[in-house]
Amino acid sequence: MEEKIKLGVVGLGNMGSSHLAYLKDMENIQVVAVCDILKNRADAMAEQYDADAYYSHEDMFAKATLDAVIIATPHFSHTPITVHAFQKGLHVLCEKPIAVHVDDAKRMLEAYEKAKLKNPHLIFGMMFQERTAPHFIKIKDILTSGELGRLTRVTWINTHWFRSQAYYDSGGWRATWAGEGGGILTNQCPHNLDMYNWLFGLPKTVDGFAHIGKFHNIEVEDEVTAYFEHEDGMIGHFIVCTGECPGVNRLEIVGENGTLLYQDQKLIFYKNRQSMITYCKESTRIFGTVENWETKIPIDYSKPQSHRTVTEHFAAGILKGNQSELIATGNEGLNPVMLANAIMLSSFERHRVELPLDGADYAKWLEKLAKNSRFLKAKTKNNDKIADLSDSAN
Ligand SMILES: NC(=O)c1ccc[n+]([C@@H]2O[C@H](COP(=O)([O-])OP(=O)(O)OC[C@H]3O[C@@H](n4cnc5c(N)ncnc54)[C@H](O)[C@@H]3O)[C@@H](O)[C@H]2O)c1
Repeated sequence: MEEKIKLGVVGLGNMGSSHLAYLKDMENIQVVAVCDILKNRADAMAEQYDADAYYSHEDMFAKATLDAVIIATPHFSHTPITVHAFQKGLHVLCEKPIAVHVDDAKRMLEAYEKAKLKNPHLIFGMMFQERTAPHFIKIKDILTSGELGRLTRVTWINTHWFRSQAYYDSGGWRATWAGEGGGILTNQCPHNLDMYNWLFGLPKTVDGFAHIGKFHNIEVEDEVTAYFEHEDGMIGHFIVCTGECPGVNRLEIVGENGTLLYQDQKLIFYKNRQSMITYCKESTRIFGTVENWETKIPIDYSKPQSHRTVTEHFAAGILKGNQSELIATGNEGLNPVMLANAIMLSSFERHRVELPLDGADYAKWLEKLAKNSRFLKAKTKNNDKIADLSDSAN
């Protein structure tokens, strides 16, 4: 392949347009084609970025000379567009979530495996830019080092996802079972669910409690509390909401050797002088506790982060023919969706769900919900408006 990757972008709304804004400055990528079902939008972006306009991905894949594609369309369409891209032998960088439900995600991964039989160097990346955030890199580093010892509890309260009704009104597909297939777990929290899985792995069981349209005029969930149990006994709490303001993003990780607390770009380590588990078993002091010291862990925020970094790694993966260059692989898209589906299934059916989840049960729920999806969006001036993503917290 020539050194410049010929790239197409499908979906030119909030995220697609924001990808285009940095792609124009990337040396090893040339955006040759842009695609949106809204003709005006595709034409405007094509003119702005000196690319060819297409109004269907089929047409773009048939006519444009492409090496790779970024898919930034509403979630349900990630599956058919990605599968089609792999059939055409294109490298794919897919926006989060990989898909709305486990079965669709598996279809994409199967298409990838099939396409790799023809080109073993084909790249499938996920846009999980939160993994480039310096505080999460530091937390991952500390957990990998084993300094915390055995983990006993993780509590993540992330209510920094406030969204107004205007946001939900801004796209006809948003927050409907038929158009989006879910609420906060499907739209905002794929990042957090990916992070949970990246840092702690998949739990063994999931209990979920989801409130549907509690703060907004929507038909999907906007407040969720989940309780996880892991194989080794660690428990997890996952509390998220789009209706709380001011919200908080507070992650507590408790290990036998101390507690790691992340909030407001600050990472504090309350280090136990000895293992709390050993102390608990062996101490003869009736009301004694383990002595601990507070340490503020420095985080280097000068390092590059966010979407562009993920795309740079995607480009490096293509040029070096090596999937290990990626920040997040397509395969890693599956577990966050599995967690989201398991939480909702548990909430709908009011019982504990075991992982790994067989996708069929939740797919049936979704099919039923989508069929009965009655939600009609009020026509407002925000319908189909491109939003300024810099306002988005987290
Ligand atoms: N990584 C992130 O930080 C981040 C942030 C926002 C959105 N996203 C993801 O990006 C995706 C798009 O979200 P958005 O906020 O940009 O939505 P949006 O509604 O602003 O934009 C979607 C665009 O896709 C177009 N479209 C719809 N179906 C299409 C199709 N079949 N072919 C071509 N174009 C099509 C629409 O006309 C629209 O212009 C979602 O999956 C979302 O989860 C990721």
